[in-house]
Amino acid sequence: MDPYSFEDFVGDPDVFFAEYFDKQPLLRTGALAGRLDGLPSVRQLDDILALETTPPSYLRVTKGGKGVPSGAYTRTVARGAALAEAVNAEKVYELFRSGGTVTWNSLQHVLPSARRLRDPFAEALACDAEVVLFVTPARTDGFSPHRDSIDVFVVQVDGTKTWRVWATPEHRRGDEGSYTPEELGDPVVEVTLRPGDVLYVPHGTPHAAAANSELSLHLSVGVEPRRWRHLLQDTVTALVEDDAFHGFPHLAEGEDTAAVAALTEKLELLRERLARLDVASEAKRLVAVGRARNGADRTREFARLAAVDTLAPATRVRRGAVPVEIGDSEAGRTALRAGGRQLAVPDAVAGALRALDSGRTVSAAEFFPGVPEARSLSAVRGLARIGVLEAVAGPPAGASPDAVPVADEKRK
Ligand SMILES: [Fe+2]
Repeated sequence: MDPYSFEDFVGDPDVFFAEYFDKQPLLRTGALAGRLDGLPSVRQLDDILALETTPPSYLRVTKGGKGVPSGAYTRTVARGAALAEAVNAEKVYELFRSGGTVTWNSLQHVLPSARRLRDPFAEALACDAEVVLFVTPARTDGFSPHRDSIDVFVVQVDGTKTWRVWATPEHRRGDEGSYTPEELGDPVVEVTLRPGDVLYVPHGTPHAAAANSELSLHLSVGVEPRRWRHLLQDTVTALVEDDAFHGFPHLAEGEDTAAVAALTEKLELLRERLARLDVASEAKRLVAVGRARNGADRTREFARLAAVDTLAPATRVRRGAVPVEIGDSEAGRTALRAGGRQLAVPDAVAGALRALDSGRTVSAAEFFPGVPEARSLSAVRGLARIGVLEAVAGPPAGASPDAVPVADEKRK
């Protein structure tokens, strides 16, 4: 299944960021038409309710615009010697049949399909993102006019839902709130979303939704990009990690104390470090930090290890992300330190690793010079398991005319 890209949801990202992001709502009719199979669905929702392990805090039921106390759809179960609250699926169904809306928070915690939906948002906005599923019975009010504190991307998956969205106010406080019909004029968007439609609602924008004649399921990806204050705090935090800011000051009150002089000195030093900062690489670091927050950039280690074990002799490999220190040679073996491990490898293997320092690639069969192919392959797999080597994505060199690795290109 092809992964979703941010573009699938918002169209041209340059246009989105210039004209819509944090500014005004965006409706993209049919953006995901025919591509909904990979998303959380009604059937998956039944499956996870049946697992009986969902903590009730993930579920919310609202009826007539009010939250239903969780006691109405939970039961107490024994877990070992302790008692725990668990969701009672039958009661959830009962509340739904009688007009309740069921909301499932942080669906990406339990469903890989929700994780797939979340990833392009976490990547493009360099922040964590939460997938919330809303399932509304036919002909209910759903949600009356309100504003959320986060940006929301709505994806209609099953049934239809009628939305009204009002203009994004110029001044927003970043809070939640509700509105009476008199407070709002005419909506700027009034639309019945169908499966595959996408709607972007910036934070603080009034909106309301109601289901029509059939059950409606929509997913909403909520994102809260970091504000300037969060980014600058992060930059300063990284700078003051330096040993120069490590000491314990004695802070005494008064205008002319040693503490004031010491603080002046440290502020001066911080100012100097800020002035010397390489802004382009700091921006890159902040993006990486944002993507890695709360697992937004989680590795798939089992999948990676399985791929290493099936690595073919023709696969091109290069140095991986794990740094290697190559030590001294003794009796034909060279000491290596990588990822907290101490190894001793044949000198030729250490030489082969050094040769890849410049970003070169080599086929797995030829990595270890002068030994049979199977032994070279085995050395490559061993080093790839600990992240010292990695396969270059794409077909092996020679498989097609345009598959020449970049490094080979450079050597021409
Ligand atoms: Fe909302």
